[in-house]
Amino acid sequence: MLEAWEILILPLKFDRMKAPLWLASHLPHKGGDPQNGIPCIHNTLKISDTWSFLGFGGVVFSLSPLVGEMAAARGGMSLSFLRKDWCLVPARLYCRALITGSSIGLMSQKKVLVVGGAGYIGSHNCLLLAERGYQPIVFDNLSNGHAEFVKWGPLEQGDIRDRARLNEVFEKHKPDAVLHFAALIEVGESVKNPVAFYDNNVIGALTLLSAALDAGVKAFVFSSTCATYGLPQQVPMDETHPQAPINPYGRTKFIIEQALKDYGTYKGLRSVMLRYFNAAGADFEGRIGEWHTPETHAIPLAIEAALGRRQGFKVFGDDYDTRDGTCVRDYIHVLDLADAHVRAVDYLLAGGETVELNLGTGTGTTVKELLATISDVSGKPFPVDYVGRRDGDSTTLVANNDKAKAVLGWEPQYTLHDIIRSAWNWHSKANFHLN
Ligand SMILES: NC(=O)c1ccc[n+]([C@@H]2O[C@H](COP(=O)([O-])OP(=O)(O)OC[C@H]3O[C@@H](n4cnc5c(N)ncnc54)[C@H](O)[C@@H]3O)[C@@H](O)[C@H]2O)c1
Repeated sequence: MLEAWEILILPLKFDRMKAPLWLASHLPHKGGDPQNGIPCIHNTLKISDTWSFLGFGGVVFSLSPLVGEMAAARGGMSLSFLRKDWCLVPARLYCRALITGSSIGLMSQKKVLVVGGAGYIGSHNCLLLAERGYQPIVFDNLSNGHAEFVKWGPLEQGDIRDRARLNEVFEKHKPDAVLHFAALIEVGESVKNPVAFYDNNVIGALTLLSAALDAGVKAFVFSSTCATYGLPQQVPMDETHPQAPINPYGRTKFIIEQALKDYGTYKGLRSVMLRYFNAAGADFEGRIGEWHTPETHAIPLAIEAALGRRQGFKVFGDDYDTRDGTCVRDYIHVLDLADAHVRAVDYLLAGGETVELNLGTGTGTTVKELLATISDVSGKPFPVDYVGRRDGDSTTLVANNDKAKAVLGWEPQYTLHDIIRSAWNWHSKANFHLN
């Protein structure tokens, strides 16, 4: 990933949060002039990416071989064109120091409590947090999560409704920020058993919030959902769309959003509420992926059909007012979601205010298009059964993601093809069967 001549330039006395902006305003952006000792900012890394990647105020520069030789000749630790109050550190050394947890005397890692981090989206967040220099600590009761998904930090087993256990964990780890993924998530189940949903998703989240407040946490990122909007009044939906959820699942999330706004205004607990559209895809190395029991999401169900583990795939309705009659959804890669979460942590730790943001690609895909992509990527056609419409399904759900782009500097990186490729890789390797 990093080239031989890449180095980090750090101001010796930097404010951890302001360093990237400071550097951006004090250094030449692109191009540079290596002949005269002016470095080039690496073409493929934006300052904000690098900032997140390293989790502190460093910027990765590419030096021309000429300047690189100068750096090597000087032991890689100083260059004449640098101002006296900057220091220069070989990137590989610094990254190794971060990975091994050793310190070269510049800073310590920030800790993030990842609540529900043994689940699908939470575990992908741990992966990216660790890559970008944060230390994830997973808190999960393993009701729907998997201990084998906890690979990038310690697991603290516990339930968010257990205040004493939460206190212990906050006291032990003293996290700087909390990401809250833990919830019951299945819409159909919420209609059958709303009590369990209010208990887990509302009482649990409020208990977690109280514990976080008492522990002095000031940054909280919440997994919300487009289900808080209810039936769309216009598409794509932006954050000003009225919130009128049509099922208990959506209402539990809406209640916590309202609580978070009050906690921000009156208690100083700043939060980012991320309203996901359809989370999909998996780690490209196949270490973790989507594994819900029961599974209700379209992509894993269709892939299991293509793998011959299910008899076929049911499409609910092909008489909608869309380009091919099937419903339109906005599928967003789980690693794009994770990228937005890490940026949300950066944003809050830098003093960002409470905000709600849609996370979607802004592009709609019909069910037929989705199935065609799965057949294409897998090379395996599978039986598809067209049945009647299902209650509560909206015709089209697509995000307007302009606000997330503006606030977090975030941009989804992955296509539908990437989503299916990574999901196919995970499901065809994974040794579990969906029920
Ligand atoms: N999957 C999606 O497409 C999607 C879309 C919108 C919003 N969301 C939200 O994202 C979050 C994560 O979703 P996911 O798909 O990763 O679900 P998941 O079920 O895979 O993960 C949830 C995790 O929370 C844990 N958990 C649940 N209740 C708990 C409790 N009381 N105490 C401690 N741990 C508990 C589970 O064991 C699991 O590991 C949820 O809040 C969900 O509402 C998901």
